[in-house]
Amino acid sequence: MKKTVIVTGGAGFIGSNFIYLLLEERPEWKIICIDALTYAANIHTLNKAIENPNFKFYKEDIRNRDGIFKIFEIEKPDIVVNFAAESHVDRSIENPGIFLETNILGTQVMMDACRKYGVERFHQVGTDEVYGDLPLDRPDLFFTEETPIHTSSPYSTSKASADLLALAYYRTYGLPVTVSRCSNNYGPYQFPEKLIPLMINNAIKDKTLPVYGQGLNVRDWLYVKDHCLGILAVLERGKTGEVYNLGGHNEKANIEIVKIILKELGKPESLISYVADRKGHDLRYAIDPAKAEMELGWHPTTMFTDGIKQTIRWYQNNMVWMEECTSGDYVNYYERMYERRINQ
Ligand code: NAD
Ligand code: TYD
Repeated sequence: MKKTVIVTGGAGFIGSNFIYLLLEERPEWKIICIDALTYAANIHTLNKAIENPNFKFYKEDIRNRDGIFKIFEIEKPDIVVNFAAESHVDRSIENPGIFLETNILGTQVMMDACRKYGVERFHQVGTDEVYGDLPLDRPDLFFTEETPIHTSSPYSTSKASADLLALAYYRTYGLPVTVSRCSNNYGPYQFPEKLIPLMINNAIKDKTLPVYGQGLNVRDWLYVKDHCLGILAVLERGKTGEVYNLGGHNEKANIEIVKIILKELGKPESLISYVADRKGHDLRYAIDPAKAEMELGWHPTTMFTDGIKQTIRWYQNNMVWMEECTSGDYVNYYERMYERRINQ
């Protein structure tokens, strides 16, 4: 059945991968991307999508109520998937305000538009960081959907607030909401402020690889296409009012990831530099995806050993894309963020 889907934040990492998945898997659907094109976006990411007649792009900020309502009036979406967010923990520690505005108030604007114009689904893309962290010495513990919300950073707090607001709109107004909470993604088109693309970029350029603390913090890595397939499964088979955890059962300490990247690129471990730790640094994230597996029949299919090789190859083959991201203000960001860590 033909659907019109609004994807917010579609010029960013996961949103763009989701758009390409839908254009391939649901070719009859009309995909409308709304993105404010912040520093984290690269419009060239959508070059191939823009050629597709079923794809349309609006440069708009999800905080702009009038602009968003106008788009709803024109496009009359059936489904809205809200990826748009400020997404980097380190930036949230520097400047929390914009995280609260975009991630909470922007989500409110999107849901108010959904209420006014009527949709069959509003899906909020959430994160496992809302559950806080797990101890490193308890590998038997995992985040389930019942784990209490217990956030550490301004980023995770803003995302938890948005999740709760979405569930409140379901309960209070009957808006058909679903929420997914995912672990760390990796793959093509990720902005190189995040661990994996930053380390790949630095290693390719023989720059030092800044590892926070001792590199022992653990993340549960999921290939981005598997995450996108999980969101599609929630849209098509999930129950409204429900939360679904999406994770890869693929835990790795940061230092392991960095060493895998260096090995794959044939670069020496002497490039590693241990720098000052992140404030409030979460120790370990690990998702129990049993609910999504049982209720939706969703399973991640990309093994980390394959996914990381494909990812490294993608960045090697797309250095022009990388240069577009790392020119301009990125240089100032990098100097500000990492000079301070090294000098601490
Ligand atoms: P990203 O930073 O790569 O992309 C975010 C996109 O949103 C950018 O294109 C940006 O221009 C856009 N945007 C930001 N503010 C906006 C605004 N006010 N109005 C319109 N557009 C705006 O982020 P990502 O890694 O692709 O994450 C997407 C979503 O998934 C986020 O909600 C994030 O919290 C969530 N998530 C990410 C991960 C991960 O590992 N990257 C894991 C779990 C959940
Ligand atoms: P990041 O990619 O920022 O994702 P998140 O904080 O949302 O999990 O960081 C992943 C892990 O890598 C996290 O434990 C912090 C660490 N890290 C570094 O050690 N060095 C870096 O330069 C960056 C960006 C992250």
